[in-house]
Amino acid sequence: MTAPVLQMRGVEKHFGGVRALKGVDFEVRAGEVVALAGENGAGKSTLMRILGGVHQPDAGEILIDGELVIIHSVSDATRYGISFIHQELNVLDNLDVAANVFLGREPLRGGFLRLVDGKRMHEEAAVYLKRLGLDIPTNTLLSRLSIARQQMVEIAKALSLKARILIMDEPTSSLTLTETARLLEVVSDLRAQGVAIIYISHRLNEMEQIADRVVVLRDGANVGELAREEITHDRMVKMMVGRDLDQFYQQPQAERVPGYFEIEELHTSRYPNHKVSFGVGRGEILGLAGLVGAGRTEVAQALFGIDGVIEATIRLDRQVLQIRSPQDAIKHGIYLIPEDRRNAGIITEIPIRENITLPSLERYAKAGLIAFDRERKAATDICSKMNVKAPSVEERVINLSGGNQQKVVLAKWLSLEPKVLIFDEPTRGVDVGAKAEIYALMRGLAESGVAILMISSDMEEVLHISDRVAVMHEGVLTGILERAECREENIMRLAVGKHAA
Ligand SMILES: Nc1ncnc2c1ncn2[C@@H]1O[C@H](COP(=O)(O)OP(=O)(O)OP(=O)(O)O)[C@@H](O)[C@H]1O
Ligand SMILES: [Mg+2]
Repeated sequence: MTAPVLQMRGVEKHFGGVRALKGVDFEVRAGEVVALAGENGAGKSTLMRILGGVHQPDAGEILIDGELVIIHSVSDATRYGISFIHQELNVLDNLDVAANVFLGREPLRGGFLRLVDGKRMHEEAAVYLKRLGLDIPTNTLLSRLSIARQQMVEIAKALSLKARILIMDEPTSSLTLTETARLLEVVSDLRAQGVAIIYISHRLNEMEQIADRVVVLRDGANVGELAREEITHDRMVKMMVGRDLDQFYQQPQAERVPGYFEIEELHTSRYPNHKVSFGVGRGEILGLAGLVGAGRTEVAQALFGIDGVIEATIRLDRQVLQIRSPQDAIKHGIYLIPEDRRNAGIITEIPIRENITLPSLERYAKAGLIAFDRERKAATDICSKMNVKAPSVEERVINLSGGNQQKVVLAKWLSLEPKVLIFDEPTRGVDVGAKAEIYALMRGLAESGVAILMISSDMEEVLHISDRVAVMHEGVLTGILERAECREENIMRLAVGKHAA
């Protein structure tokens, strides 16, 4: 057996009073894919940021090829052959593909002027793109690419850096079905070429598919690991949350009342020539599936009034609604929980409490004064119900782990007593335990009479959470599947534009 390329021993790290890592051991060999798993806030990203030279550990040691090293900075990490694809992408979107791949290391032409050799840069970038099966011109601006492709550009960059240790922190959380499959193929190829890969994900089926070993952290410590043949859905869940999750998916119980939230002939600004019609019953969770660019987010935003005056007939409980702005939507009890928490979901610089109570402040206000105790209590209640992991509701959101930030986004909207909730990727980056909680919450809301429209690119989620599934392809609604027809192959067929047979 080959010696590990990387060993981390007894790594400790604290942030103020939070002990993020309490002596973690971790190793990976060449040509091995190790999945690093654990609940939100378990310390996965922190451990990797230490390896990537972003943070310094308080204690512990790192060995590369058996030799003790100290990684002072990101450029140190790069020198040791470590490449890091971050949870939140790190590309410069006003530069083109080649410039992103070679950022800071542009090939130079000879001669004393040392000019950037643009031609060589583009030729070399093209080689890496080709290796990844990415068919785009190297002079395309990053801003014109989908997130999936931007991510491939980051991987191309890692290849060009001759990465021997590749860290991927939730690489598929913004990708859809086909893109995820492609990415997993790329990971497999890299493994075959001898790269050591550390793969962080909350999607169990991906880990099942790709990992040679799963290492699980809980509360900043190792709790165990699973060898290839031991990796199953149930074992991973049990190790991560420390108990069995017997009711992961809640079966629908209440009868759906059709004809509650009805949309007729909706035009969106992106696909002005297509009309979309569908209805969400009271008590129903309607899944909305499709590939990136299918127009799902546009439908959600149009319904929330973000596109301006809606060109459509919208009925809620048989009443025709005029929605010209998000204020109108909110007035009627329609809320959108957006996919990008950094842009529209929350304000990360302020405490959790303020984020949750911001949209409903008047409900806590009494004679013009905000009843601070009540606000605090409401925020604390909903956080404990959703298991938000934070020292207190006064913690600033920016210091929470990715998944806990997502829970705060949800908590904020759930405190508003909605009639229609539109979720855009509700569990992106959320761990299994929290997913189960969010699903239970969604089902609970549905049963209390809310109509829920759920956009999701997580196939498992679409299949198990939805009462019915609507599928879109390039702005067209290609079909709506009843519960009994909700199978992966049926959804995929509609998602690539083939209408129901
Ligand atoms: N810069 C920071 N300042 C303060 N606390 C931090 C900081 N970075 C991380 N933490 C805390 O350290 C702990 C571990 O966070 P980390 O981001 O490593 O979790 P994670 O396992 O990557 O979670 P997720 O799956 O949600 O991304 C959390 O309690 C988090 O709030
Ligand atoms: Mg993380």
